[in-house]
Amino acid sequence: MKDKIKKFAVLGHPISHSLSPQIHFLFAKEFSINLEYKKFDIKENNLLERIESLKDEGYFGLNITLPLKYSVFQICDELSERASFCKSVNTITFLKNKIIGDSTDGRGLISDLKNKNVLIKGISILLIGAGGAANGGIYDLIQSRPEKIYIINRTYTKAIEMKKYWELFAKKNQVSLEVIDLNFLFSKNLSSQYNFDLIINATSSSLTSQDSPIPENTFNFLNKNGNCYDMMYGSETPFMRDAYKKTDLVYDGIGMLIEQAATSFNIWHQLQPSTKNIEVALKDL
Ligand SMILES: NC(=O)c1ccc[n+]([C@@H]2O[C@H](COP(=O)([O-])OP(=O)(O)OC[C@H]3O[C@@H](n4cnc5c(N)ncnc54)[C@H](OP(=O)(O)O)[C@@H]3O)[C@@H](O)[C@H]2O)c1
Repeated sequence: MKDKIKKFAVLGHPISHSLSPQIHFLFAKEFSINLEYKKFDIKENNLLERIESLKDEGYFGLNITLPLKYSVFQICDELSERASFCKSVNTITFLKNKIIGDSTDGRGLISDLKNKNVLIKGISILLIGAGGAANGGIYDLIQSRPEKIYIINRTYTKAIEMKKYWELFAKKNQVSLEVIDLNFLFSKNLSSQYNFDLIINATSSSLTSQDSPIPENTFNFLNKNGNCYDMMYGSETPFMRDAYKKTDLVYDGIGMLIEQAATSFNIWHQLQPSTKNIEVALKDL
C-alpha cells in the first residue's frame, strides 16, 4: 500500500523568503519520501490555536522561525533538554496529540563549522548577540568545549543577563564566559588583550544597518587562521565585508540553515540526509 503523504510546514513572519520547503524536498528525494511542506505567515496572536489546528489537520511536524521561537517554546507540552535550556523551539513534532518542541539551530551551527574544518575544542570565541540565535547557539558551543566564550551585544544589560543565565552550564563544561562592553571596543587605545579564534555574528543587524555590529578594529584581535561566521545568509553582510579585510576564512549562515534542517528531518523521519550538495542544488532551483 502507498504511504500516506506526511504534511509539514514552516511558520514565521515574514516567511516568503524561507528556503525550508526546498531543503526538505531535496532531503526527501534522497529517500524517495513523499511529503508536503508549506509556508504559513503567522504572527504571535492566536499562535496556539493555529498550531493546534494544524495538528488537527494531520500535520506531522512544523518548523518555527522568527519571531516565534520563544513563544512556541512557551506553549509546547514537552521540550527537549536543549530547547528547554535555550528557551527556543524551531522544530515541533505532533506525537500522541502532544506538541513536542526541540531546537536544532545550535546543532546546525556546530555541524556547519565542522564541515568548514572549524574545531571548537579549546578555542576562544567572540559571540555577538544576545537574542534567540545567540542563546540557541551557545548551548551547543559550550558542549563543544571551547576554552572561552566572550559575549558582546548592542544592549549591554542583555549580554550580562545572558552570561548569568549560562554561567553554571558553562562552568560544568569547563568553559569560561566573559562579557565585553561594546563601548570599550570603540575606544581608540585598545591594547591587544583579546585573541579570538572564531568570531560569530548572531545578530540581525544587517537587516536594518549598513554597519557591522562590532567596530572594524575588533578583527585585529582575530588570530592567524581565525574564522568569521555570520548566521545571516543571502548576501554579504557589513560584518562579512569588514571580516574579509582581515581574512578569507569568512562564512555566511546558509550551511547552518541546511544543517539545522537536516537535524529536524532526522527528528521527524529518523533518517540522516546528506547535506553535501544541497547549497548548490538550492542555487539551481
Ligand atoms: N542560519 C541560520 O540557520 C539561522 C538560524 C537562526 C537565526 N539566524 C539569524 O540570526 C539573526 C538573529 O536572530 P535572533 O533570533 O537572535 O533575533 P533576535 O532574537 O531578534 O535578536 C536580535 C539580536 O541582534 C541584535 N541587533 C539587532 N539589530 C542590531 C543592530 N543594528 N546593531 C547591533 N545589534 C543588533 C540585537 O541586539 P539588542 O539586544 O541590542 O536588541 C539582538 O542581540 C537573524 O537575522 C536570523 O536570520 C540564522
